Amino acid sequence: MGYLQKIRSTTDSWDEVTAPFIALGIFEEGTLTSTGNDIDKVLQGQISKAYSLGDIKGKTDEVTLFYHDEKRIAVIGLGKKDKFDAEGARRAAATASRTAIQRKIGDICVENFDTEFVQAIAEGITLGSYQYFDFKTDDEDCFDLKSALVMTENKEAVHRGSVYAQGVCYARDLENAPGNHTTPSRLAESAAEISQAGGMKLTVFDRDEFTEMGMGGMAGVSAGSDEPPKFIILEYYGGEKDEKPKVLVGKGLTFDAGGISIKPAASMDEMKYDMCGSGVVLGVMKAVSVLKPNMNIVGVVPSTENLLGGKAYKPGDILKAYNGKTIEVLNTDAEGRLILADGLSYVSKHYDPEYILDFATLTGAVVISLGHITTGIMGTDEALLDRVRQSSKETAEKVWELPLWDEYCEQIKSKVADVKNVGEARQAGSIAAGAFLKEFVQEGIPWCHFDIAGTAWGKKDSPYYYQKGASGETIRLVLNLMGV
Ligand code: BES
Ligand code: ZN
Ligand code: ZN
Repeated sequence: MGYLQKIRSTTDSWDEVTAPFIALGIFEEGTLTSTGNDIDKVLQGQISKAYSLGDIKGKTDEVTLFYHDEKRIAVIGLGKKDKFDAEGARRAAATASRTAIQRKIGDICVENFDTEFVQAIAEGITLGSYQYFDFKTDDEDCFDLKSALVMTENKEAVHRGSVYAQGVCYARDLENAPGNHTTPSRLAESAAEISQAGGMKLTVFDRDEFTEMGMGGMAGVSAGSDEPPKFIILEYYGGEKDEKPKVLVGKGLTFDAGGISIKPAASMDEMKYDMCGSGVVLGVMKAVSVLKPNMNIVGVVPSTENLLGGKAYKPGDILKAYNGKTIEVLNTDAEGRLILADGLSYVSKHYDPEYILDFATLTGAVVISLGHITTGIMGTDEALLDRVRQSSKETAEKVWELPLWDEYCEQIKSKVADVKNVGEARQAGSIAAGAFLKEFVQEGIPWCHFDIAGTAWGKKDSPYYYQKGASGETIRLVLNLMGV
């Protein structure tokens, strides 16, 4: 399966647990957690001896193994005690999963590090268990973690953490799969799976339907591809009938060759990840389908490839989006904003959203400004941006706001149409994209755009990011923000 499906909680003590791998923590100051102290006594002080001799330093990501009967005791470094937080716990738990998998140990037990960060621990165990080998035919190296226990009474936090992280892993699988597998049809199938499990309503418009409806952005971008494009809508009604829905829109560009304004060949394969915005929407809806919260949520995924061909749209073409605004296309590689224009107009018209959040691997420029560390955010509503920042802190998924000031909004005005799909050459590219999207969100609806081009993949390998592949970042942030 590639990741852990379920975590259980236990109030048994470490010596009553049958798992052959017990993970506990040690701080840089040398303090062991309570389970650690108990085990140290049974091991006749070996752990504290290793610390005093300097073989254990307690630094983050450090692991030292000890042995008792048939059990491995993994002592995991937690860093400085006064800096230890939910992210530290998440990371340490992920280290436990990774260590066990490397040794082909299928069942683990992780203590709660004497903290309340139980949800983060369950997230870390699951995220750390993630591996991607769907296309390996020789399965010798393919070993999955089978079960995990967390030493806590808080079953609910264990369940929530496990479901959040499974939403992330579900999205990672879709994102890591190549463009010939994760097609718009495949995204629609995933949406169908999720809708069935969660009692959601699914609507999928195909090329003829969305063209007829006036989605000129979708029609233009998809014109050069024979792979059937889809405009996917998932509606979940768990709240009161009159309660405004929270709306998510995600760029589902399953392969971006750039179109007629073709991209260079180097690293073009990475453009299979150009659907990671849709991965966020589907990952969140996957978790919603399990947790079934009391609220209304709508997820929309405009999905197509961006290729070249005799029917492909061209620089200079003018398209009309779903809200009636005309767009001069000056670069066919700035296609994400064109399909989002239809997505954002559609949800503005058909729902009365509490807020709209959109997710897109939208600009190479955001990778230049914020690297693979931080997601660029832009929006129109200070209160919503504050909530995003708060959830960012709570989930350790970093965001930074870029200014959507009027001077930038001027830069996307066109001489021949209402707007053009690029700003000034080599300047503020991520902001120009945000300014463009703003034109398609109805005024008055709180809205926040997440440019995840840097953070959706290619992050440094760490206990819970897998080999520079898809990260699933911002899924946990959104679940936290919505209060799922
Ligand atoms: N999908 C790309 C953005 C991207 C590029 C993400 C590199 C991650 C890494 C997007 O469709 C795109 O090509 N944007 C152009 C816009 C430009 C033509 C105004 C870009 O960023 O170069
Ligand atoms: Zn592009
Ligand atoms: Zn793109």
